[in-house]
Amino acid sequence: MHAQNTASSTSVFVLDVGKRFLKFSFVGLVILGTSIATAFEATHMWVEHNSLAPEKDEEIKKWQWDLGAEHWTGDPVKGGTDPGLGIKGRHMLRAAWMAYNWGVGSGAAATGTDSEPGRSGANIIHIIDARIQRAEVFLRNALYFAEASSSKLHSHTLPQILTLHAAMLENLGTALLPDSRIAYERAWAGLSGKGLFAAQVAEKVGEVCSRLGLGNEAVEWWKRAIQLSTEEKYNRTYDEDIHVPQTAPASPLGQRILAKSLVALSAYYAQSGQLSKAQSVEENALDLIRSIPQPSSLASASPPQALHALFLLQRSSLLSIHLAEVIYARRKSQVTCMQYLTAAAESSERVARVLVGLSPHGADEFNLHNPIPVEKSQLSAVYTSSSSMNKAAKGLLRDSLRTAAEAWNLLGILHEEREGPGSKTSLGCFQRAVGWAGVPTTEDPSIRTAAEGILKAEWNVFWGNYTRAKHAAERQTKK
Ligand SMILES: *[C@@H]1O[C@H](CO)[C@@H](O)[C@H](O)[C@H]1NC(C)=O
Ligand SMILES: *[C@@H]1O[C@H](CO)[C@@H](O)[C@H](O)[C@H]1NC(C)=O
Repeated sequence: MHAQNTASSTSVFVLDVGKRFLKFSFVGLVILGTSIATAFEATHMWVEHNSLAPEKDEEIKKWQWDLGAEHWTGDPVKGGTDPGLGIKGRHMLRAAWMAYNWGVGSGAAATGTDSEPGRSGANIIHIIDARIQRAEVFLRNALYFAEASSSKLHSHTLPQILTLHAAMLENLGTALLPDSRIAYERAWAGLSGKGLFAAQVAEKVGEVCSRLGLGNEAVEWWKRAIQLSTEEKYNRTYDEDIHVPQTAPASPLGQRILAKSLVALSAYYAQSGQLSKAQSVEENALDLIRSIPQPSSLASASPPQALHALFLLQRSSLLSIHLAEVIYARRKSQVTCMQYLTAAAESSERVARVLVGLSPHGADEFNLHNPIPVEKSQLSAVYTSSSSMNKAAKGLLRDSLRTAAEAWNLLGILHEEREGPGSKTSLGCFQRAVGWAGVPTTEDPSIRTAAEGILKAEWNVFWGNYTRAKHAAERQTKK
């Protein structure tokens, strides 16, 4: 079945394009057919030699951004697709790359229904990215060729294709999570559980298990990720329950995987009500991340180094927010809680400002309505122009807007508790939350909508609190 799929896929593509031109004369059709085939091949060669070219920038390599989350080339030193895949397999993999990075012609998003077990009768309709759907099909086919010629491949090629496939499945709705998990676990097995790539895979399996409600399995996977990210430095005698190592790894990628896994662990413990464990993880993880040397100034650091520092800063803001929530839930000091939230808000704002090319500290000129001026709302060109850093930077910008807004929203609630609804400080906090998470609408700049990458549900919380506080403040001034 796989074989049929693959054999027809490449030619169907050419035929589809050709069909539109059937009214042309036969000779014209032949000429046209040849040139389409040539253009098709030329596109593939372009992807092979440009998009999948090995990273040449030494600074990017030093900070290991070239070893980021997505791996398409078997051997990162050589670049390009693995020759062992054969002509068809390589075409499939490049086609998947194109579908994923360039999208499909219409850019249409298909809708699918996804009935979640446990929510009786609730049919949740959500948008499935057609781009990811297409890429998933091509990857499935590439996988078929990779398995058929696995002896000829670079040792990382098969695990890479499996991880890419798993990542697409993960994004296609909860129904496919079990398949995603199987693919990730196969990738893990193919790497014999060694190295940073295996650590990345382990962190992902943990995420998928957690989404599937398999908490204990998730914790085991994160433990493996943490252990592998720190390599031999992991101190096994350290508290078995918490899994926070005492020293951070030297490898920048190892540090990022470690930070990510610790955030995941902290969120899991907090959400499952294991508050004292959550608090220990958060406090120890914050200490650990703080122990990693930082550049003396973000402005003078090279873009890859700055991006690494910002990544760690954003992850520590997340840990601070989690910690504040846990302290709040355990009814401990409200002042400590506010301190963590303020630190998280300020750090996240700094991350966002640097990523869009503003100076890190701009609090004095701060404009509550437009914390990031609209004309500056795009990721800085030093990041968009680098294929190794672009996706990571884009994700980090989105995450930092979310954490900034979340921290301000929670601060607003705490101020409300102390000073009563509609207090000036709390309104200011809510305003700042919608400032970061939203963009002004064109019709009426005082009404904002969710910025790109902010979920509708999150936005409703920020906007709901802001409008509520605003009305309360208005009622008070009228009195
Ligand atoms: C591991 O931790 C224990 C207890 O904190 C400590 O005594 C020991 O020196 C550590 N070992 C290494 C290799 O860091
Ligand atoms: C305000 O924020 C809190 C905490 O995030 C949330 O639970 C609540 O629903 C929000 N209120 C409104 C009116 O949206």
